[in-house]
Amino acid sequence: SEPLQEQHSTTTTYVVVSISCSPRSSMAKAPGASLGPVPFADVEADSGLVSGVPEQLPEEHADADLVSALPSAPMAMGISNLRFYEGCWLPEWSVPAAVALQRRFEPRRDDVIVASFPKCGTTWVNALTFATMARRAYPAAGAGHPLLRLNPHQCIPFLEGLFGSRRGEAKLEALPSPRVMNTHMPLAMIPRAAAPGGGGCKVVYVCREPKDMVVSRWHFHRQLHPELAFADVFEAVCSGAVAYGPVWDHMLGYWSASTARPDSVLFLRYEELLRDPAEHVRALARFVGLPFSGAEEDAGAVHDIVKLCSFGHLKNLEANKTGHVNPILQIPRGALFRKGAAGDWVNHMTPEMARRLDEIVADKLHASGLTFHE
Ligand code: A3P
Repeated sequence: SEPLQEQHSTTTTYVVVSISCSPRSSMAKAPGASLGPVPFADVEADSGLVSGVPEQLPEEHADADLVSALPSAPMAMGISNLRFYEGCWLPEWSVPAAVALQRRFEPRRDDVIVASFPKCGTTWVNALTFATMARRAYPAAGAGHPLLRLNPHQCIPFLEGLFGSRRGEAKLEALPSPRVMNTHMPLAMIPRAAAPGGGGCKVVYVCREPKDMVVSRWHFHRQLHPELAFADVFEAVCSGAVAYGPVWDHMLGYWSASTARPDSVLFLRYEELLRDPAEHVRALARFVGLPFSGAEEDAGAVHDIVKLCSFGHLKNLEANKTGHVNPILQIPRGALFRKGAAGDWVNHMTPEMARRLDEIVADKLHASGLTFHE
């Protein structure tokens, strides 16, 4: 999530790449074929992976004018300034990373990117995507599953975090296929990811009812700034000047791509995932080219993934209860698992505030076909 990005953390952003189009009925491993994504934290720990690549800043970071020439706004959460780059308010540190991403990110056809606006269900969809794609190597009910010992954000690299250094880029390059990555960047910053014509990789986007996103964001940032007023976060979101905002433009970019290229962009909604997680896991599996076989269905593989990644299960794992998402910002991992429900905005917003944000969002999404109904 966003404050982690401030420190170039490996926060989640997802890109899932199809492993194979062979029928799931066998799920047999073809000679030389990968069994699915590897947990990024395990690969990252292998220092031999990028030996010889210095921890050196890419040229975009040395270009001071790149950032200073852009319009700026203070971040309501008091973490860093925002800069307006190509229609998006980005945290200042991530502007060079965005430019580097645009210039050098080369998607592989079997990559999968999980994309989201912060606080919209990133952690959950990261876990579901990883568990679904990695199920041949790691059955979800297995005692050795990586999600039992690692936070979901440790399993999937944070794309813009990696593009903060040459070594980060090298790590991404060295990651075996299929790669799963995570980003909060708008689609325009990863133009080759879901490229028209099917040349890019696949993108899984999760969006959330904006009022609940505001509430979740306020609670999360209060971990660092207990004095933060809810009204300040609300106003920032309404103005559009919030990290990765405006939120409506973020959603619209992925929404439009998903309607134009449904094979490349899967558009998920947090509230619908809550309503029927199993059906969405099936859709996710089909999307990445790994539909569940009859045998897997009979064996309860879908249910196992839903259970493994459920809020109640993940929240209570030691890997998610202890430690910090980011060692510098010291945000407890537990903050990623707060309430896990829809509709909490009624406990934080006046009816007037709710109406105002609803109207802004409805106006901005007008005629797109994307709507939010309670
Ligand atoms: P709340 O603060 O409303 O509880 P992100 O991962 O993008 O930062 O989003 C965080 C939101 O997703 C939080 O919402 C968090 O509780 C919720 N969440 C995290 N894991 C979840 C899970 N497995 N199932 C449902 N919701 C989850």
